[in-house]
Amino acid sequence: MEAKFDVELVKDVKFYYPPPEVKEKSWIKDYSVAYQEFLADPEAFWEKMAQELDWVRKWDRVRVWDYPYAKWFVGARLNITHNCLDRHVMNHRRNKVALIWRGEEDEERVYTYRKLYREVMRFANGLKKLGIGKGDRVCIYMPMVPEQVIAMLACARIGAVHSVVFGGFGVTALNTRIVDADAKLVITADITVRRGKTISLLPIVEEAIVGASSIEKVIVLRRKSPQSELQSGMEVDFNELMEDVENFCEPETMDAEDPLFILYTSGSTGTPKGVVHTCGGYMVGTYYTTKYVFDLKEEDIYWCTADPGWITGHSYVVYGPLAAGGTVVISETTPDYPDPGNFWNIIEDLGITIFYTAPTAIRMFMKMGEKWPNGYDLSSLRIIASVGEPLNPEAFEWYYHVIGKDRCPLVDTWWQTETGMQMITTMIGEPMRPGFAGKGIPGVVADVVNKEGESVAPGKGGFLVIREPWPAMLRTIYKNDDRYRKYWYTIPNVYTTGDLAVKGDKGYIMILGRADDIILVAGHNIGTAEVESALVSHPAVAEAAVIGKPDPLKGNSIKAFVILRVGNTPSDHLTSEIIHHVRMTLGPIAMPSEIEYMEKLPKTRSGKIMRRVLKAKEMGIDPGDISTLEE
Ligand code: WTA
Repeated sequence: MEAKFDVELVKDVKFYYPPPEVKEKSWIKDYSVAYQEFLADPEAFWEKMAQELDWVRKWDRVRVWDYPYAKWFVGARLNITHNCLDRHVMNHRRNKVALIWRGEEDEERVYTYRKLYREVMRFANGLKKLGIGKGDRVCIYMPMVPEQVIAMLACARIGAVHSVVFGGFGVTALNTRIVDADAKLVITADITVRRGKTISLLPIVEEAIVGASSIEKVIVLRRKSPQSELQSGMEVDFNELMEDVENFCEPETMDAEDPLFILYTSGSTGTPKGVVHTCGGYMVGTYYTTKYVFDLKEEDIYWCTADPGWITGHSYVVYGPLAAGGTVVISETTPDYPDPGNFWNIIEDLGITIFYTAPTAIRMFMKMGEKWPNGYDLSSLRIIASVGEPLNPEAFEWYYHVIGKDRCPLVDTWWQTETGMQMITTMIGEPMRPGFAGKGIPGVVADVVNKEGESVAPGKGGFLVIREPWPAMLRTIYKNDDRYRKYWYTIPNVYTTGDLAVKGDKGYIMILGRADDIILVAGHNIGTAEVESALVSHPAVAEAAVIGKPDPLKGNSIKAFVILRVGNTPSDHLTSEIIHHVRMTLGPIAMPSEIEYMEKLPKTRSGKIMRRVLKAKEMGIDPGDISTLEE
């Protein structure tokens, strides 16, 4: 793949053409052929994919679609960890490296498939000892360490449903998620390490489980020395739990439609949505995309920088790449510590071949300058990829030229917590268009439509929707099926993504961003309602509204408009106090970067805050139709 790609520029429309050998060497030889094969017989297409994996019992039917509910691989039985572990241990991958962890100070831990398999089974037996079994919900609140992956797989081994909560969330955010899921157990660590400092996690858990009556135990990975004290009775040491247990743990046989995990994502109302994914379809979807979108081969060293606390980590750190038998790198480090060469150093050091990161990181690297990546040998890279928010053309060009050196396909993957797997991208070997994620992958029918669900013409914008069910789609919102139905009934007969998009020519789709009250901050979904309720829980705040304000690095930053309770006056001190309060409640990712004090907030007659008006005012644009505005 040494040849550089051709570039074609017609009337401002730019395409990069990969040389033909890229296609010839990739799993998908031809996107159009594969797509036609899918369209001709969708069930046969997915069945063929599922055949590449191991099942305890095969399906009676590939798909049953009873709008808006889909079932996949109906009647099939399996355990996903058998496909991620046992399957490889039984073949030539037994001693292949499954997981490489990098910490700060060049710390490194390596797990072969066999070692990971043993650790997962021992921990699974430990969970059983605590009385955890099939269907129980387990909350995992951990830093990015191998034990986080082990904990997830151990739950899946015994059929317990994990709910991973990102380690950067604060007390209230964690509490809400534990309570909603009725979790019996929290698995955590005493500390997380960041930029040479340690941050305590355990006190957050201890506060978050107050009033969470479902919690029976807390498992703590103790990393600090001297060791942190544990509360007797309630808290159990991670490693001690693995002592005196059998090395082998039979995988629980799961129905394809049994839940595998719940993952909370922000919604338009205050409470986050527990997105439910199931065992069979999710496994097939993540396996297929890891193999075909990333073109994962036996010898690849694959690094996805996402935390398993997000869906990207679930699908493309843990389940997809392990099901495909890949070598996965995880790193508990930040891009710019000890210096902005950290990521490039890891790529050179480990010989990373596939690199998957987020636009916000790419834009930060752009700002730091080319000298950092140029100081390292990045020639091992063969595919570079992006996810989480729109990859703007400038960031695309930089990533493609400076990191990919004009010879690596750049796959910008659009998908969501709800979709479980990648949905829209430019498949390897296809011409790439900066600013455009691409098209539906084979297996996915994506479209841009108007409110009535009619396709818009090329060059026009509208709502991004998916027209057909797909195996890794969410099955429901935990304990709130009405919220699930909304995805399929907002526009009839299609799945509404909540994103706005533009259809370009040749079917390429440009993603513009969210159409609803979710703000993408550095690629993380933050619900305006959740931040607003954190703000009003501060004693000085009477009312609050937040908006996303364009930010050159993070995509958006959070700006809050606040009305104070009588007797309080705005001051810098109060501003930092309120911001700190949100930090403690929801975590640093949801912190407003700016607060403006107001006397009144623009509202509709029915009392709903019109964030659109605040945003338009902030950006100096016409707020459009504000006829429902009262004040
Ligand atoms: C946005 C992350 C543009 C989008 C996997 C989506 C993107 C939301 C892209 C889901 C992309 C994700 N280009 N926008 N390549 N990927 N998004 O649930 O707004 O954390 O709806 O899933 O991120 O975020 P989530």
